[in-house]
Amino acid sequence: MTVLVTGGAGFIGSNFVYHMLKKYPDYKIICVDCLTYAGNLSTLEKALENPNFVFLKTDICDREEIYKIFDEHKPDIVVNFAAESHVDRSIENPEVFLKTNILGTQVLMDACRKYGITRYHQVSTDEVYGDLPLDRPDMFFTEETPLHTSSPYSASKASADLLVLAYYRTYNLPITISRCSNNYGPYHFPEKLIPLMIANALADKPLPVYGKGENVRDWLYVEDHCEAIDLIIHKGKAGEVYNVGGHNEMKNIDIVKLICKKLDKPESLITFVTDRKGHDLRYAIDPAKINKELGWLPKTKFSDGIEKTIKWYLNNKQWWETIISGEYRDYYDKMYRNR
Ligand code: NAD
Ligand code: DAU
Repeated sequence: MTVLVTGGAGFIGSNFVYHMLKKYPDYKIICVDCLTYAGNLSTLEKALENPNFVFLKTDICDREEIYKIFDEHKPDIVVNFAAESHVDRSIENPEVFLKTNILGTQVLMDACRKYGITRYHQVSTDEVYGDLPLDRPDMFFTEETPLHTSSPYSASKASADLLVLAYYRTYNLPITISRCSNNYGPYHFPEKLIPLMIANALADKPLPVYGKGENVRDWLYVEDHCEAIDLIIHKGKAGEVYNVGGHNEMKNIDIVKLICKKLDKPESLITFVTDRKGHDLRYAIDPAKINKELGWLPKTKFSDGIEKTIKWYLNNKQWWETIISGEYRDYYDKMYRNR
C-alpha cells in the first residue's frame, strides 16, 4: 500500500506520518510538501531514516510535478493536509489561501482521477461551519450543519470541501472528508495559541489574549485526530463527511491561565490585545457519526494531553527556538545540498 501524504512537514501531517510508519511498517509513505514557513523538514528527521519514507519538496499547485509524482509512485491513498492554516495570516493576505487550499486540492484530485486511487481524503476543519453562540451549550456542529464561514481561511477550506464533494458526485472519485476541531500536541507551530503561549511564558514575554479571552475552542490531542483519519481512509464510506472532536470545550483565557500555572509563571504576563477581525465565538463538534459508524473515540484526556504537550515543548526547545530564530529554514539545504 502506498499512501501519499501532503503537508507532512507541518503539525498534523508530521504526526500522521509518524503514526502511519509505526502502525503500518509495510506501507510506503510519500510525503509531498513545499516547505512554506509552516513546514519544517527537521520534524521529519527520524522518518527520513526509514526506507519506506520518501520526502518530495513540491507544491501541490504544480500540476506537472504532481502528475509526475503520481506517475512514478502510483499512490493507492492520498491524504491532503497541505494548506495555509493560520486564520490571522488569512486576514492579512487571503490570496495564497485560495491558491493552495482550493486550487491545490483541485490539482491533487485531478491527479487522482488521471492515475486512479482507492481513496482521496481531504483534511478539513470545523471552521467551515462558522461559529456557535456562547450562551447555547446545547448546540453542536453535526455533518448536517450548513457551511457558514467567517475568515478567508475558513472560506477557502469550505470551498475546497464543496469541490471535493463535487468530484464525488460528478466523477465518482472515492473521496472522504474529515472536519476536526482544534488540535494540540508536539510539532505545533508556535504562532498558534497553545505553543505561542508556552514559548512566550518560558521567555517571560507578554501572553497576547485576543479580546476578553471568552472565545471557546474544542481541543483534541493530535494523535486522536491521526487515528480518526487512519480509520476513515481504511473503513470510512466514500462520499461521506466525518466530524472529529472530543467534547473538550475551553475558553482561551482558561487555557492561558492553565499554561501559566503549569509553568509556574505569573498571570500578570497575560495581556489583552485587540480582538481578531470576525473572531469566531465558539466551536463544538458532535462526533456521534464517527463514533457510531467507525467506533472512534478520543483516547487522550485534555489534562493528560496538555501535560504531555508542555513536557514536549520543554524537552524540545531546540525545535521551536530554531523556528523563532528562523534557522529551521536552512535544514532542507543542509539535508539535500549534496543529494
Ligand atoms: P500547518 O500549517 O502546521 O502545516 C501545513 C503544511 O502544509 C506545511 O508543512 C506547509 O509547508 C505545507 N504546505 C502549505 N502549502 C503547501 C503547498 N502549496 N504545497 C505543498 N505543501 C504545502 O497546518 P496543520 O495545523 O498541520 O493543518 C493541517 C491540515 O489540517 C490543514 O488542512 C488544516 O486546515 C487542517 N486542520 C487543522 C487543525 C488544527 O487545529 N491545526 C484542525 C482541523 C483541521
Ligand atoms: O478549529 C480548527 C482550526 O483551529 C484549524 O482549522 C486552524 O487551522 C487552526 O489554526 C485553529 O484555528 P484557531 O483560529 O481556532 O486557532 P489559533 O491557535 O489561531 O487560535 C485559537 C484561539 O486563540 C482563537 O480564539 C484566537 C485565540 N488567540 C490566538 C492567538 C494566536 C489568542 O487569543 N491569542 C493569540 O495570540
